[in-house]
Amino acid sequence: MRIPALAVCLSLAACAGAQSVLDPGGDQAQALFSLFGLMIGVCGIVYAIVLAGLGRVLLRAWKRPVAMADDIPDDRRLDRSLPVAAAAIVLGLTVLIVGSFLADRILFTGRQTPAVFVRVTGHQWWWRIQYRDPASGRWIETANELHLPRGETSRVSLGAADVIHSFWVPAIAGKLDMIPGRRNVIDLTPRRTGWFRGQCTEFCGAQHAHMAFDVKVDSPAGFRAWLAAQATPAPTPGGAAGRGAQVFAGSCATCHAIRGTEARGRAGPDLTHLASRRSIAAGTATMTRGNLQGWIAQPQAMKPGTSMPAVTLMPADADAVATYLAGLR
Ligand code: CUA
Repeated sequence: MRIPALAVCLSLAACAGAQSVLDPGGDQAQALFSLFGLMIGVCGIVYAIVLAGLGRVLLRAWKRPVAMADDIPDDRRLDRSLPVAAAAIVLGLTVLIVGSFLADRILFTGRQTPAVFVRVTGHQWWWRIQYRDPASGRWIETANELHLPRGETSRVSLGAADVIHSFWVPAIAGKLDMIPGRRNVIDLTPRRTGWFRGQCTEFCGAQHAHMAFDVKVDSPAGFRAWLAAQATPAPTPGGAAGRGAQVFAGSCATCHAIRGTEARGRAGPDLTHLASRRSIAAGTATMTRGNLQGWIAQPQAMKPGTSMPAVTLMPADADAVATYLAGLR
């Protein structure tokens, strides 16, 4: 008894997690999870009935003496069971169609009035994320980290800059492709605060697996405070960070933007509040000063094929840049 109980506990423990469809934390994921449960239920019942019928036939054949050709009964009994089987199939399919229709209504993007608008654009291999600033109406740009208010609907417009990617936060909603030249729209209504994980789910090149992003679901007040902080320009650096800012302007600003400075590059992620993020290089490594320094010196070692070139700097300059970036909170 103890071993099956332990096995059930272990298997259920594996269902929880920041990236699990079996642990829904949002309306859309809950609708899909319920539909999944309904399908398992209907298919399980059909499976049990078929096995029971098969067992009954086998048992009867086993008990009965071997039949001669003349003893084989006619198939009138089969004729009688056909309408029952047909009715069961129609009933099962009807239940699944109704369940699928109800789930679709929850996923339908016209159902909710969104409180937040977000644009997410897939790049090889990172995510450009832009929020509409409710105060100024302008776009606020960040990367690789999506923040959402709990209990409100965020409407996410999805696009791609190079090849097809796919946006999926399994614990909050279903997946949707990101296609160059068009925008697809998905609604996210999270119900539980905490950190979740999103992942690109369309093979998009060598570092497809390292194209992830963090999702933070916060209280509505916490989310708005975060958005207001993201809307501000980068803090003015002093001391060693000031030296780092000069080096950055000469070596990195062609590709990266930092609002409030001359750096306005668009090829790579916006770094205005880089150090406020949880990870670097699209979920490849945790945000630490050491990982930042390693990423700048050897990006191809951390993520082979990335568009980020190795930046050759004197050790003192590399240290100053890391100090500068680690201060961009
Ligand atoms: Cu982007 Cu896979």
